[in-house]
Amino acid sequence: MFLRVVCVFCVFSCVSMQYVPPFTEDCRTGMYPPNGPTFKGAVTWYTVDLDLLPSKRWTEIITDKKNELINMVQAIKDLADEFVPSGRLEELIDKALPLMVDTLPYPFNEEIKGIAAASGVPLGEVVLFNIFYEIFTVCTSLVAEDPDGNLIHARNLDFGLFMGWDIKNQSWVITELLKPLVVNVDFRRNNSTVFQSTNFAGYVGMLTGVRPYMFTLTMNERFSLDGGYIGILEWILGKRDGVWMSFLTRSVLENATSYAEAKKLLSDTKLLAPAYFILGGNQSGEACIITRSRTHNLNPLELDVQHGRWYVLETNYDHWKMPLFLDDRRTPAMKCMNQTTQANVSIKTVYDVLSTKPVLNKLTTYTTLMEVSKGKLESYIRACPNPCMPW
Ligand SMILES: *[C@@H]1O[C@H](CO)[C@@H](O)[C@H](O)[C@H]1NC(C)=O
Ligand SMILES: *[C@@H]1O[C@H](CO)[C@@H](O)[C@H](O)[C@H]1NC(C)=O
Ligand SMILES: *[C@@H]1O[C@H](CO)[C@@H](O)[C@H](O)[C@H]1NC(C)=O
Ligand SMILES: *[C@@H]1O[C@H](CO)[C@@H](O)[C@H](O)[C@H]1NC(C)=O
Ligand SMILES: *[C@@H]1O[C@H](CO)[C@@H](O)[C@H](O)[C@H]1NC(C)=O
Ligand SMILES: *[C@@H]1O[C@H](CO)[C@@H](O)[C@H](O)[C@H]1NC(C)=O
Ligand SMILES: *[C@@H]1O[C@H](CO)[C@@H](O)[C@H](O)[C@H]1NC(C)=O
Repeated sequence: MFLRVVCVFCVFSCVSMQYVPPFTEDCRTGMYPPNGPTFKGAVTWYTVDLDLLPSKRWTEIITDKKNELINMVQAIKDLADEFVPSGRLEELIDKALPLMVDTLPYPFNEEIKGIAAASGVPLGEVVLFNIFYEIFTVCTSLVAEDPDGNLIHARNLDFGLFMGWDIKNQSWVITELLKPLVVNVDFRRNNSTVFQSTNFAGYVGMLTGVRPYMFTLTMNERFSLDGGYIGILEWILGKRDGVWMSFLTRSVLENATSYAEAKKLLSDTKLLAPAYFILGGNQSGEACIITRSRTHNLNPLELDVQHGRWYVLETNYDHWKMPLFLDDRRTPAMKCMNQTTQANVSIKTVYDVLSTKPVLNKLTTYTTLMEVSKGKLESYIRACPNPCMPW
């Protein structure tokens, strides 16, 4: 929370004041199938074969996305140089982070080494790229139940706050560089799909995915003083008794075989830092928001259709507290969901909600729509032409 407040004010002081929050627009309609200036293209599909050695799994994707990955890593290093101009930070990245890879659990350690080898990007920089998302992701996720009991899970992935505002282009440097790295991945074992995700090439954790006919899962950043990032620091310093958040989501998507099992793992596994997990099942009533401290699932929120709660929605604030007034994406998103009504909820109308500013903003890289009962995931690269909130 504190970090977030600091970033918001820092950024706020450098961007145009004409979009004073809350900048909201009327709920969008007719945005789907994706079209117009907020749509920058469909996301390409790849296959990752889980029967291959971890070091070989990502070769095809990285071969295609190598240049984009190199550009991204260079931009991160440039930001680091601006932040600590002596070049000391870069030295740290190249000397200390390669050693860290061996402290990461299997198969993540081997996959990261494989990505470094296939791209030619130094190992420490690939490690940095993988840690990065654990820290700076702001998003909107929701799960809604339609009148037939089908569950629809959707999210906007907003990333890059704080990461270099391009004044001339009115955009975030890192956000723009991430868009060409977005891929859909079909993870297969023995030639059949185990799970599917929307991912950034080069990143081995998961932020968005579906295990067809079983469950859907997204993760959002939780800014919190209770735990904060101390666990990540402890890991670097050698005390390693928690799990990286997006490694847990990957393990759950890959190895959990029911909604109940996924829920238990996401609720009870000790984490390195707080997080929100948004989980949907494949049966009426199965959806929840898991608000995690490092050790506990705080104040769980479940779907309760009988009592009128036909959707659950999470941005980056605890559901029992008010969002920060400078960053309220929850109220506009809920307003549009309420206006849609359960009778009309569908992939199409949920895409409309996620296309309404400021739910859609300058940080939004992609929108993913998932329908578990059809085993379906689709995603779209987004843009937010002016006037548009920077976050
Ligand atoms: C400027 O922004 C547009 C979209 O807003 C993007 O397509 C383009 O790549 C950006 N240019 C640079 C140099 O970041
Ligand atoms: C792999 O798939 C084949 C054919 O679909 C099947 O006969 C075999 O039992 C499967 N193996 C495993 C380990 O699931
Ligand atoms: C997977 O399917 C492809 C094409 O359908 C086939 O060529 C290949 O032998 C299969 N692999 C396994 C392990 O079954
Ligand atoms: C899933 O389980 C298998 C078998 O136990 C294990 O080899 C694999 O590493 C697990 N995957 C993840 C991502 O934890
Ligand atoms: C949306 O509806 C829910 C349930 O009726 C209500 O609690 C919430 O305040 C409404 N939110 C908005 C922004 O309209
Ligand atoms: C729901 O959908 C129907 C038919 O598609 C449409 O006539 C109606 O206006 C919609 N209701 C709302 C509240 O959007
Ligand atoms: C998931 O839901 C669909 C549609 O309701 C149903 O046909 C299917 O059997 C369910 N799958 C499982 C594994 O429960």
